[in-house]
Amino acid sequence: MTLLHIVTVDEDNPVLRRRAPRVGRVDDSVRRLMDDMMETMIAAPGVGLAAPQVDVSLRVITIRVDNQLLYLANPEIVKFEGEQIGYEGCLSVPGVVGEVKRHQKIVCRALNRHGQEKRIKGDGLLARAIQHEIDHLDGILFTDRLTDPATLRRVDEMDAAEVQQVEGEVAAPA
Ligand code: NI
Repeated sequence: MTLLHIVTVDEDNPVLRRRAPRVGRVDDSVRRLMDDMMETMIAAPGVGLAAPQVDVSLRVITIRVDNQLLYLANPEIVKFEGEQIGYEGCLSVPGVVGEVKRHQKIVCRALNRHGQEKRIKGDGLLARAIQHEIDHLDGILFTDRLTDPATLRRVDEMDAAEVQQVEGEVAAPA
């Protein structure tokens, strides 16, 4: 497996703003991408990663929440319920977090690493991570969805307890 470069907004790479096309078939090349993304995401560290963040415009995401590893192609939210408001960060927008409102619970339909159609139920952080990653597939960043621009904060100006409460791609620091 290979650690991939994570594209950040300051690179002005249009891949982060493009709507990514669907995966036709989960073949070996898609599986290799999924494996490389998972390794890159865990090393970052983060709880989610979308293929456009590694400069591949395809509808593929990886997630790790509560030691559950998800490798998903063509993920779609088919059901949602409730709302949650919380801080999020993004590996492609380093150094800042902001408040975003998301569905509290979702059901997501996607193809897994073997190309089988699955339904994944997510609540809380898992639901938030899946919504954040699907946004990346549509060229949307969390900074587009802030409840209020004033909630955008620099991580280096927050204390450790505040940073630990941050959800999304920014994992609690070790
Ligand atoms: Ni992100």
